[in-house]
Amino acid sequence: MPDPTPITESAVAEAADAAVAAIASSTTMAELRAARVTHVAEYSPLALFNAQLGSVPAADRAATGKLVGQARAAVSRASVAREGDLAVAEERTRLAAEAVDVTAVGTRWRPGARHPLTLLMERMSDIFVAMGWEIAEGPELENEWFNFDSLNMDEDHPARSEQDTFFVDPIDSHLVLRTQTSPVQIRSLLSRPLPVYVVSPGKVFRKDELDATHTPVFHQIEGIAIDRGLTMANLRGTLEHLARAMFGVEAQIRLRPNYFPFTEPSAEMDVWQPNAKGGARWVEWGGCGMVNPNVLRAAGIDPDDYQGFAFGMGIERTLQFRNDMNDMRDMVEGDIRFSQQFGMVV
Ligand code: PHE
Repeated sequence: MPDPTPITESAVAEAADAAVAAIASSTTMAELRAARVTHVAEYSPLALFNAQLGSVPAADRAATGKLVGQARAAVSRASVAREGDLAVAEERTRLAAEAVDVTAVGTRWRPGARHPLTLLMERMSDIFVAMGWEIAEGPELENEWFNFDSLNMDEDHPARSEQDTFFVDPIDSHLVLRTQTSPVQIRSLLSRPLPVYVVSPGKVFRKDELDATHTPVFHQIEGIAIDRGLTMANLRGTLEHLARAMFGVEAQIRLRPNYFPFTEPSAEMDVWQPNAKGGARWVEWGGCGMVNPNVLRAAGIDPDDYQGFAFGMGIERTLQFRNDMNDMRDMVEGDIRFSQQFGMVV
C-alpha cells in the first residue's frame, strides 16, 4: 500500500468535497452506489484517514478525529439525502412508465354464440319437453345392429352399401357413423320402461358431397312414442303441433304413403308454409309411420300389447325452410356473418 496521505484539514476537505460532489452528481441509484464505493467505502480517502487516526500523535488525536468524523458525517448525510431524492425520482419514472390510460379504447372480445343449428335443435326438443317427452341421446359411432338390423333393414338394404354409409375400420368391428338418429329409438326402448315418449336430436353422417342441398354431416331429430292404443291420428296430431310451433299457426302437414323398413304404414311428411318467400308451398320435411312390429319385437316388446309411432326430420332442412335459405353450405362453413343473423345466443 502507498504511504498514506497525511491528514490535513485541506486534504480532508478535498476528500469530503469530492465525495459530496460525486454523490450530488449521481443521477441513478447505481451511480450513487458507485460514488459510495469510491468515496465512502473501505479504502476511500476518508476511510483511510479514519483508519489512520490511531497513529496520530495523542495531542492532535481529538482534533483530527473530530475533523475526519465531521467530514464523514457530512458525506453520509449527503448520501442519505441523495438516496431519498433518487428513490422518489425513480419511483416517479416507474409510475410514469407503468401508467395505463384507462380512457383508451380497448380490444373488444366478443363472446361466442351457439350455432343456429344447435339453437334450432334445442328449440325443437323443447317443444317435446313441453308435451312431457324425454330427450335421449345416442352414440354417433354406432353399432351396425342398432343402425340397421334392429330397424328391420336387412343385409342387402341399399342404405347399407359402402356408397352411402361410413363404415369404420376394422370392418368386423361392425361400427358405422350412424346414418340416422333412428338407432336411438331402439336404445330408448331397451333402456326404459313403457310407455316411452322420447325425442333424440343429433348428428348423422352419410357419404354425400357437400353442395347446396347436401352435406355429409347433418342433424336430425327423431321421435318415438310407444304406448297402448296409439294410432296414426296421434302421429298426425303430434307432427301438426310441431309444424305450427316451427312455421306458424297456419302451417299444415300432409302425409304421403311411403316406405321405411322400420315403420308400417310409413309416410313422407310435407309441410305447408303459407308465408314462404316466393309464395305458399308444400315442402318435404321428414319421414314417419307406425313402428313396425318387427322393431318392437327386436326391443322385446309385444306388438299386440303396445303400439307406437316414429318420425324423423332434418334440422338443416328445417332451418332452410324457416329462414328461406338456399345454400346448405352456409351452415357448415363457420362464417360468423351467417350465424350473427340468427342472434348471438350464448
Ligand atoms: N330415419 C329416417 C331417415 O333418416 C326418417 C324416419 C324416422 C322415418 C322415423 C320414419 C320414422 O330418413
